[in-house]
Amino acid sequence: RILILDFGSQYTQLIARRVRECGVYCEIRACDVADQAVRDFAPSGVILSGGPETVTDAETPRIPAAVFEVGVPLLGICYGMQAMAAQLGGRVAPSEHKEFGYAQVRARGHSRLLRDIEDHASADGYGLLDVWMSHGDRVEAPPEGFLVIAETEAAPVAGIGDDDRGWYGLQFHPEVTHTAQGGRILERFVREICGCPGDWTPGNIVEDSIARVREQVGDRHVVLGLSGGVDSSVTAALLHRAIGDQLTCVFVDNGLLRQGEADQVMATFARHMGVRVIHIDAEDRFLTALSGVEDPEEKRRIIGNLFVEIFDEEAGKLQGVDFLAQGTIYPDVVESAGNAGGKSHVIKSHHNVGGLPETMKLKLVEPLRELFKDEVRRVGLELGLPADMLYRHPFPGPGLGVRILGEVHKRYADLLRRADAIFIEELRRWDWYDRTSQAFAVFLPVRSVGVTGDGRRYEYVVALRAVETVDFMTARWAQLPYEFLDHVSRRIINEIDGISRVVYDISGKPPATIEWE
Ligand code: XMP
Repeated sequence: RILILDFGSQYTQLIARRVRECGVYCEIRACDVADQAVRDFAPSGVILSGGPETVTDAETPRIPAAVFEVGVPLLGICYGMQAMAAQLGGRVAPSEHKEFGYAQVRARGHSRLLRDIEDHASADGYGLLDVWMSHGDRVEAPPEGFLVIAETEAAPVAGIGDDDRGWYGLQFHPEVTHTAQGGRILERFVREICGCPGDWTPGNIVEDSIARVREQVGDRHVVLGLSGGVDSSVTAALLHRAIGDQLTCVFVDNGLLRQGEADQVMATFARHMGVRVIHIDAEDRFLTALSGVEDPEEKRRIIGNLFVEIFDEEAGKLQGVDFLAQGTIYPDVVESAGNAGGKSHVIKSHHNVGGLPETMKLKLVEPLRELFKDEVRRVGLELGLPADMLYRHPFPGPGLGVRILGEVHKRYADLLRRADAIFIEELRRWDWYDRTSQAFAVFLPVRSVGVTGDGRRYEYVVALRAVETVDFMTARWAQLPYEFLDHVSRRIINEIDGISRVVYDISGKPPATIEWE
């Protein structure tokens, strides 16, 4: 397994995902990790991430001594390479030519790390690599024992290597997809140079997790809040496989779910897989609690708290439960330089252990704690969950509660569910669902005039929202074809009595958010 030390790069999690894609298990630790923790981890290799700091400033993060002492291969990326060079006696200086973005690197093919990896061959026999570069400092002279293995115009030392020790540094970022051969370089490092076997596959992850859950839980009982979202669904399927009827799921239907969602959850888990699921129809309680409330944050708070309250009530009725399962995933807990608080235990707000009855004193079971979202999905497939459930667009915890602007009424929710279902059905039919990251309908409680046949209508408005995004922090509105929008609009207005106008949201994020509330 590989240890990744985080020096604060925005790409650290990406390094971890790429390593995992090579079938190799890895974990991220903050760069100031204790020497003993490095030894205890017993890594087969260590990767040092990039970071925002400059090695040439005083007081910038250093690589823990144990990293050099454990005697395993090292790969320093960007800041990681500079810190390595500086600490091993090389020379690092501020660069006059800063480089950010695309660059072409001449790779000297003699190193084990880059041998035979190239995008183009140059006339003088060097391999050329198209890479993503970002640096202010540069290494001017490699430390003793290292050879220069890559160079660019602005950085004569863009890569260093010592094949004997398996220690390497790269000024560019192999983990980002703009570096075309980055995946091969990382694979070369973790598989060949570190000698990791590549057995971190969904099948093995499932087997391994099952064994660990059985060991932790024994013959005791576990309760899980099942929402129908990816993380809780995969947790349920995994626990069911591991401990069968010792798992009880509580599914709280808050009346703010999408069309057919409650049925789908019950069909998949209870009827099809035989999971013990307690289905709580709490629509009335949620609608009553939301009555008269217009403020979005207030609605979120009410929905979140009531969920915890109902979950607690139901969990409290179960006899002999010792564990609470949660669908916590790796990005929720990862301990990294920019996130010192990540060391503490993150509890998803919807599954607040603190809110559970005192007498229950539940211990946590979190079988997905080490997995990235893409791994969770692949594990779900391995466990036989339907692909359309695993690759569904994200859906906010407060559900339609924040997609009905202002006060929530059952009639609004019913109208919105139907409009949303038509939109999603057509997106799938026109092959646009997977080309958008999130798409949904929003209910606007304003009425507008329309005519149908000989009648005049005075009914509500629905807005359609579809965005493309990678991280949901920024997003572009999806440029859906006019014919498609026309078709969806006609269907919604013709089929749903109560909606007489459809509009399409063409706001980007920023300045708008993805949700309307
Ligand atoms: P915004 O609207 O902030 O949304 O651009 C970004 C992403 O977060 C989701 N979202 C939520 N998810 N509870 C959730 O679980 C919430 O209260 C919430 N608000 C927004 C939103 O659907 C989008 O994917």
